[in-house]
Amino acid sequence: MNSIRTILTSSLLLLTATTVSAWSGQIKVSTPHMAMYLHAHEGEDLRLDYMGATSASSLELEESGDALQAAAIPAFGTADMTWLPALQVEHANGDLNLELVVDKVSTSSDANSKTTIITMKDKLQPFTLRIFYKAFQNADVIETWTEISHHEKGAVRLRRYDSGHIVIPQGDVWLTHLHGTWSAEMMPVNERLAPGITEIKNTDGTRNAHLDAPEIMLSLDGEPNEHTGRAIGAALCWGGNYDIRVSTMENKMHHLYAGIDPQSSQYVLDPGKTFTTPPLALTYSEEGMGGVSRNFHRWARHDGMVHDGTGVRPILLNSWEGIYFDITEERILKMMDDIKSMGGELFVMDDGWFGRKYERNTDNAALGDWVVDTKKLPHGLKALTDGARERGIKFGIWLEPEMTNTKSELFEQHPDWALQVKGRELKKGRGGTQLVLDLTNPKVQDFVYRTIDNLLTANPDIAYIKWDANAPIQNYGSTYEPADRQDNIYVDYHLGLQKVLQRIRKKYPKLIMQDCASGGGRANYGILPYFDEMWVSDNNDPLQRVFIQWGTSYFFPANVMAQHIATSPYYNTGRVTPIKFRCDVAMSGRLGMELQPSKMTEEERRQATTAINDYKALRQTVQQGNRYRLVDPYTHPVAVLMDVDDSRSHAVLFAYRVRYLYNDVVPRVRLQGLDPAASYTLHERDVKDGEKSCSLDGKTFSGRFLMDVGLDIPLQKDYASRVFELTR
Ligand code: GLA
Repeated sequence: MNSIRTILTSSLLLLTATTVSAWSGQIKVSTPHMAMYLHAHEGEDLRLDYMGATSASSLELEESGDALQAAAIPAFGTADMTWLPALQVEHANGDLNLELVVDKVSTSSDANSKTTIITMKDKLQPFTLRIFYKAFQNADVIETWTEISHHEKGAVRLRRYDSGHIVIPQGDVWLTHLHGTWSAEMMPVNERLAPGITEIKNTDGTRNAHLDAPEIMLSLDGEPNEHTGRAIGAALCWGGNYDIRVSTMENKMHHLYAGIDPQSSQYVLDPGKTFTTPPLALTYSEEGMGGVSRNFHRWARHDGMVHDGTGVRPILLNSWEGIYFDITEERILKMMDDIKSMGGELFVMDDGWFGRKYERNTDNAALGDWVVDTKKLPHGLKALTDGARERGIKFGIWLEPEMTNTKSELFEQHPDWALQVKGRELKKGRGGTQLVLDLTNPKVQDFVYRTIDNLLTANPDIAYIKWDANAPIQNYGSTYEPADRQDNIYVDYHLGLQKVLQRIRKKYPKLIMQDCASGGGRANYGILPYFDEMWVSDNNDPLQRVFIQWGTSYFFPANVMAQHIATSPYYNTGRVTPIKFRCDVAMSGRLGMELQPSKMTEEERRQATTAINDYKALRQTVQQGNRYRLVDPYTHPVAVLMDVDDSRSHAVLFAYRVRYLYNDVVPRVRLQGLDPAASYTLHERDVKDGEKSCSLDGKTFSGRFLMDVGLDIPLQKDYASRVFELTR
């Protein structure tokens, strides 16, 4: 109750100037621990009165007179022009105003969710907005989005079309977002909300998570805390350009707006057509940032935001950093032998296997020419899929289906299939030749679908595809979209991509697909409904990975995070790290390897074999458990995290030394998520080759002791690491 009072009290200033109107139109949208109250009275505007803990009753809100009374979707032209609009249109006749009032409210439900739909109509124009709130009953997430349609005399231009808007009473509220770049993705940034507008956006065109990611958290009780305090999470489920704004205005509110970036995409919508904005997933927790993360993880796994969210992923070897473009049949078969001998289950042949007229020996040619390079692979893919089957492992393959190179047969035959501006020189990306295909064009969509379909039809044993995207949109123009629809390109590109992915998923529901975009450029919930996992980063240096994976886990569950054991010294940091540290860091997500096994030392092979075999006993809990980030490497010399299964009978704890200075203080680690009344026995896993387990191995403690008193985890040197299994 205290927390609710805090919200309500701080909103008082706004409300003294207004009165709360009748409560008869009050709608409660709720999950087990989160609720939103909406005022939806026919003929009136739609208002958000409350968002927070579900325990707030509408009666108490009414009696306290503390409803927020915020426009649910502030539209330009309605009464309060001091608010930033979440919706702004240019009507067919040039009118720029909207006065939307509630027309009707309906609900629908399925096994896991209940959806409230509020239909609003403009007072003057034949323009309709439908606002959706989908409340998941098995995860504390409410998705909100809109549908925009009209029957005006001509096209309507959508100048801004956010998916959602919420308000929070002003206070000591902090914004957490993830910032980064190639090889350093997902670095958390925390900032106190101050008057003004904070904007997080991406304008890459194809990928949207390299620089700033489309997910944020708001901590409502002061500086962000991992374990306690009220926190709101918001994830825009869109793979393209986005715009998230937090504005703090003189109305004593913080406003959060999130949607497709309208900057270069003032979408042109014809009469009779409907535009659906991508979902904005909202969550609320009183267990701080950790609670927000666990809510998102559960929703992602169970509510279809990841293609096969409850699937447990195989352990793989990817060829990229091992052999780059130097693919030969002999090398690939040998790598399969190697991963099999270490206990792996899947081999993925990365870039370099294709090209006929133009060879793919570097990154400047052949994208789009998806035929086997028979100089490298004289017996085709069949020899490889047969080879995998004979070894008892699965086979996967890399493609970059949305792209081409100017040096390719595809571009020679279909120069108009690349995004381009007639009369302007082409700007080329990777390799000095890479271009993005025009996925607004149904013919190009069909080509991309057929690329995958033909490959899988001819090679039914392909079990896994790594789908890469290594270029931004640099040529803003489409030969397919008409001159007066060029504003639609960024959006239609992603709608086209979704259509292709939907077709692929319909025919190949069991295919495992990884999304990749020069590393972690596609960490977003717009693309994940079609993919099983994502490539977290091209940086496999284990030290930097601890930090990248830490931030990525703010929003994404462990089974989605592809984490590979690489070489030491590592090519892009020069850092030398022990093989055990590399293994332990990779084991906290979907474990894999990315190196040439024939160059491994005997010690490295033995340790990797131990890690792979131990991981098999742990992965169900790692990939599907509830994640607790216990000690933060950004503020401590160690990182500690743990995963606990739903029944609280099995847990896995990972501890990494990220800095070693003599006399550094390493905190005692208090565990979380366990049953206080149960006893847990600790077993050290992935024990260093030739060493004995640490003194905690085999000891039994109560859940209460582990959570209240905690453990001193021995990590006494640079890159020391430990993995413990806890069994009830
Ligand atoms: C991108 C990916 C890498 C690898 C290369 C291949 O950079 O992120 O993992 O697949 O492309 O060219």
